[in-house]
Amino acid sequence: MTTRPRTAGKLPLTDLAEMKKRREPIVMVTAYDFPSGRLADAAGIDVVLVGDSAAMTVLGHDSTTPATMDDMLLLARAAARGAKRPLVVADMPFGSFQVSDEDAMRNAVRFVKEAGVDAVKVEGAGPTLSRVLALVGAGIPVMGHIGLTPQSATMLGGYKAQGRTAAKARELLDDALALEAAGCFSIVLECVPSPVAERITEALAIPTIGIGSGRGCDGQVLVFHDLLGLYEGRAPRFVKRYAELAGEIKDALERYAADVRTHAFPGEEHTYAIPDEELARFEAELVER
Ligand code: KIV
Repeated sequence: MTTRPRTAGKLPLTDLAEMKKRREPIVMVTAYDFPSGRLADAAGIDVVLVGDSAAMTVLGHDSTTPATMDDMLLLARAAARGAKRPLVVADMPFGSFQVSDEDAMRNAVRFVKEAGVDAVKVEGAGPTLSRVLALVGAGIPVMGHIGLTPQSATMLGGYKAQGRTAAKARELLDDALALEAAGCFSIVLECVPSPVAERITEALAIPTIGIGSGRGCDGQVLVFHDLLGLYEGRAPRFVKRYAELAGEIKDALERYAADVRTHAFPGEEHTYAIPDEELARFEAELVER
């Protein structure tokens, strides 16, 4: 196992660009609560993303679009309490930045002030560029996200790879360059063919973080529940599972239920004592009543 030597305190945002220059891969993972934030920190993860994938992984929706600012603030606040060393990035949920620069500003400020995150992430380019300019102008670091952008999956024809024609690949490159020019400190490339992601990465001074976009990106991100196997059933093609925790958790819960039903739990070692004389007095009082 390889872990980087750690300096004390929060990873400086500017270190990400330095890591790109040194060709040192940036490790990002999603986290949505205190324990997952704390575990990511303990594992030496560089960036924790409080993704709006929480709408699906944590809140049980079918897509990311129902996530609200209130949902995301609650989760981001908890994750940021756990992740002290990694940079914590909050995903701006659908509807929190699409309408206007003012909305984007108000909601991003809430993430920074109320949840204590270090940066925000916005999906898309085009109209999103003016949001990035506004937020960065106000001193809020912004991560971009292009390729498969789940908040607009319907417009993209579903959850599928993007940039698979020369024209579409060119569009993605132009979007990435425009996001960089607008001030993004990093860009997520989701489900972009590896050679296209590699060319985009080479064209940018800021780091790219890939998900389903191959090893030519400057870093990688995976969803916590995907990489830990926290649900049963098939994961997307680009996921590598490092554990199968859903099975282990279900097994533990089944053993707990069986122990309760057979009185095997709790045992003496799980209970608290009362001095004999106090118990005798208590029982005497019961008889007198
Ligand atoms: O919401 C999320 O988890 C994301 C990552 C998949 C990049 O946007």
